[in-house]
Formats: sequence, C-alpha cells, structure tokens
Amino acid sequence: MHYYLITGASRGLGRALTEAALARPDTTVIGICRHATIEHERYRHQPLDLSDLAAVQHNLHKVFAAFPDASSLTLINNAAVLGEIGYLGEQPNEHYEFVFDVNLLAPAMLMNTFLSAYQGRELPRTILNISSGAALRPIDGWGAYSASKAALDALSRTAQHEQQLRGSGIRIRSLSPGVLDTAMQEHIRSADARDFSEADKFVGLHQQGQLRKPEKVAEQIMRWLNGPDLGPEVVLRVDELL
Ligand SMILES: NC(=O)c1ccc[n+]([C@@H]2O[C@H](COP(=O)([O-])OP(=O)(O)OC[C@H]3O[C@@H](n4cnc5c(N)ncnc54)[C@H](OP(=O)(O)O)[C@@H]3O)[C@@H](O)[C@H]2O)c1
Repeated sequence: MHYYLITGASRGLGRALTEAALARPDTTVIGICRHATIEHERYRHQPLDLSDLAAVQHNLHKVFAAFPDASSLTLINNAAVLGEIGYLGEQPNEHYEFVFDVNLLAPAMLMNTFLSAYQGRELPRTILNISSGAALRPIDGWGAYSASKAALDALSRTAQHEQQLRGSGIRIRSLSPGVLDTAMQEHIRSADARDFSEADKFVGLHQQGQLRKPEKVAEQIMRWLNGPDLGPEVVLRVDELL
C-alpha cells in the first residue's frame, strides 16, 4: 500500500492531491486538517488544527503510524494560511504567531517526526512541502506568509542535505504550485488595495481566467512524484517538473 499523509486535504490543492492519489490503485490517504470533506474507502481523516501546536504534538503518534504494509510513504505539507492581509506595523502580533504556526512550525514538526519515525525503513519515502513564489519576492501585505514559505524552502534544503549525508534515500522537495483557483485566491481578491498594492493584478488574473485548476496541478504533481526521478533541485516551481 502507498500511504500519503496530506495536510489541508479538505479543499483546494490538498483536496485535489488527495483525490488524485486515491484515483491510483493501492493508495491510502490520511488527510490532516480541521474539516472532513472526503468520503472514500481508502481515505482516513485525522482532525487537527495546525495552529494549535500542543494538539499537533499530542496527535503526532496517530498520524505517523507504523504502516507495516507500506510500499511507500509520502508526507505532503500542503495546508497554509495567508492570514489577514496587511503591512508590518499595522498587524496584531498574534498574526505572526498564527501564520508561522500553520505554515512553518507545524510542517517542521511533521517533517521532523516523519524523518525520525521512518528513517530506518527500507522503502521509498518522500516529503513534499508546498511553497509559494511569494518566498522569493516582497509582496506587500503578505509578510508573514512570504517569510514562512522562505523558511520552509530553507528547511527543505537543509533536511535534504542531511538525508543525503545520512544516505537514507529520503527525498525532500519544496514546490511552488503557481496561482491556483482556490479559496486562498478568493481571500486575496477580497483584500483592500491600501493593504495590498497588487490587489488589481490578482483580480485581473481571475477575470482573465489565468488561475490554474488545482485538479490539473495535482495530477501533474502526482505524475512527478510517481515518476522515476524528482530531479536535482530541492526548491522548484511546478513549471519545472520533469
Ligand atoms: N492558491 C494559490 O494561488 C497558491 C499559490 C501558491 C502557493 N499556494 C500554496 O498551496 C497550498 C494550498 O493552498 P490552497 O490555495 O489550496 O488553500 P485553501 O484553498 O485556502 O485550502 C487550505 C487548506 O489548508 C487547511 N488549513 C487551513 N488552516 C488550517 C489549520 N489551522 N489547521 C489545519 N488545516 C488548515 C484547510 O483545511 P481546514 O479548513 O479543513 O482545516 C484547507 O484544506 C498552500 O500551501 C498555499 O500556500 C497556493
């Protein structure tokens, strides 16, 4: 059985990745998020609020089970939040805690536990972190989100380097999926231009039908994950997938 542990499986890209995984034979998906929206005989839901790090710590043992019949294990850290769009100096401090908890600290805890739980297993093991182009350039109003994704890229690079030094064979990638037609984009379009100078650009992308369908991107990602080689780059964009 091929096991996929996917955060944010309830909607958007995470849901599309879950459905694309389940469409393949011999797969089981453990979806990790607050809402259970998928019913499938090979889907298991682990209710978890990733902004509650005590709850994450408490439930790690349920997520990272022994899976004795596993022929591969894949963790996809997909769940993320933008939080309130607004400038530094104009946000409550709690905003930074919330965004970093969901986008960085919870994924780091899941990566860390995946690596310690499965380091000794002789089977293909992969961690895929879903990043963003926002990690690479300043986007006003998105400070916490951008910083959390840049840190996730850095953590992925270091973890992959370490696994190479250990000779574990574990593969780690951080992938930017492009601009997707999901609830996150609805949130972006609802922002006030005073807090986000690119508001019109994102409204335009939507009006011109330039948002990618999450189902298409999910299929592309699944093909790549199941292909012979993920390629040498640890941090990459969906357009660069082999
Ligand atoms: N949309 C884009 O244009 C775009 C562009 C670049 C990168 N990305 C990245 O792609 C990934 C997926 O984004 P998306 O657009 O599909 O987002 P989305 O539609 O807003 O879905 C977010 C998912 O994350 C989960 N989530 C949010 N807060 C959570 C929490 N506190 N605890 C547990 N789960 C939580 C949600 O599940 P529950 O509500 O059930 O908890 C939901 O399944 C993210 O990493 C995002 O940064 C998106």
